[in-house]
Amino acid sequence: MKKILVWSLYTRLFHVLLMVLMLAAFLTPEVKRLLSWHVAIGYTLALLFAFRILWGLMDVKYSKFKDFNFKLGDLKEYMFSIFGTKKEYIGHNPASSYAIVLMIALTFLAVITGALAYGVKEGMGIFSFMNHTLFRDMKLFKEVHEVFANALMFVIGAHIAGVLLDKILHRSPALQSMIDGMKPSSEEGLRLSLFQKAFGIFWIGFSIFALVYMLATPQNIFLADGNQKMDYAKSEPTFYKECISCHTLYPPFLLPERSWVSMMQTLDNHFGDDASLDPATTQSIKDFLVKNSAEYSTKESAWKIMNSMPKDQTLLAITETSYWKGRHKEIDKEVFKRADIGKPSNCKACHTNFENGLLNNRDIKAL
Ligand code: HEC
Ligand code: HEC
Repeated sequence: MKKILVWSLYTRLFHVLLMVLMLAAFLTPEVKRLLSWHVAIGYTLALLFAFRILWGLMDVKYSKFKDFNFKLGDLKEYMFSIFGTKKEYIGHNPASSYAIVLMIALTFLAVITGALAYGVKEGMGIFSFMNHTLFRDMKLFKEVHEVFANALMFVIGAHIAGVLLDKILHRSPALQSMIDGMKPSSEEGLRLSLFQKAFGIFWIGFSIFALVYMLATPQNIFLADGNQKMDYAKSEPTFYKECISCHTLYPPFLLPERSWVSMMQTLDNHFGDDASLDPATTQSIKDFLVKNSAEYSTKESAWKIMNSMPKDQTLLAITETSYWKGRHKEIDKEVFKRADIGKPSNCKACHTNFENGLLNNRDIKAL
């Protein structure tokens, strides 16, 4: 039988981009400092699918939604015939028709909930303003996002399994057609109009451009940091001068009020050192620390450190809280001893902008 063109170059390029970016989207959450990549990739996936929807509304043979097969009877027959003799579809078979629609819907849901979680939890991106009111629900937002992301992963897994089974059991040309776009058929193949070709170039080109643009300009609205960058040397000179002389400057939101009060009462024996100051200076630094303690912050680090400290306990070291320990337990003890780091409490060695009150994921240095 002769071979005809079923998938245009643009459809195939889109599919490759989709595979690569979906994989990247599922891997990036493993590395905290790549969170902004994860977010940029999410938006790019949504953009690719938005164009795919328009493509499906155009008169592109085999790709248009009108050519999808949503008949439940056909789906049932297709699923039951997987291990028997199976009908070969030129365009999308009923199972992949459903899978595609599900993947599009779940991607949009994952991206929207992801953007919301990014705003609520990190104070970053389009919804950064929501951090101030909803930060207590950061866990909920993250979990909802994960539900959609996991459902998406499940559908993708089923889709891939289907394609592979089809290949192994029926020697289906589907897998090969993802590369060369061709399938054997006596039908008339696909032909694109000039407009469709131009749209295809725009679709792929603009999506790649959008990804590169987002990664190259961290302050674009999708990734912008909504957290205020502090200049304690200017705004709080006494605190700055007295508390940066022996170690890194710890922003006040990292400990609850009771920890600061206790610390300021015991400066004469401050972790074995005498850090005592005259009463007026002590009082003024204490007032500042208390007014800006974890209780008054909407930051994730403040919220989590505070909640990990048992109510009947007053820890003075951030590095002794269970949240801090949990977050850093995967770091090799030897890493902390490195000449450029020295000790676990030297936060700024690994967290750029730490002394400006920022603890963003993208500021975590590669170790
Ligand atoms: C005379 C030196 C000295 C001065 C001044 C000093 N500290 Fe410290 N501080 C230490 C030492 C030593 C430690 C314990 C070892 C370490 O983690 O660096 C420490 C630890 C800390 C920690 C705990 C870090 C952790 O492990 O989580 C905090 C918080 C802290 N200091 C806050 C302050 C504040 C606030 C001031 C200003 C009022 C201040 N320090 C001034 C010497 C000093
Ligand atoms: C040796 C480098 C290193 C030092 C020193 C260090 N951190 Fe970290 N920190 C990391 C890494 C790496 C991560 C990400 C861990 C992960 O992947 O979950 C992290 C994660 C965090 C997080 C969680 C960020 C998030 O959004 O999940 C907080 C908060 C944090 N560090 C605070 C601190 C504070 C406060 C100090 C100092 C008392 C400190 N770190 C010292 C390397 C370091």
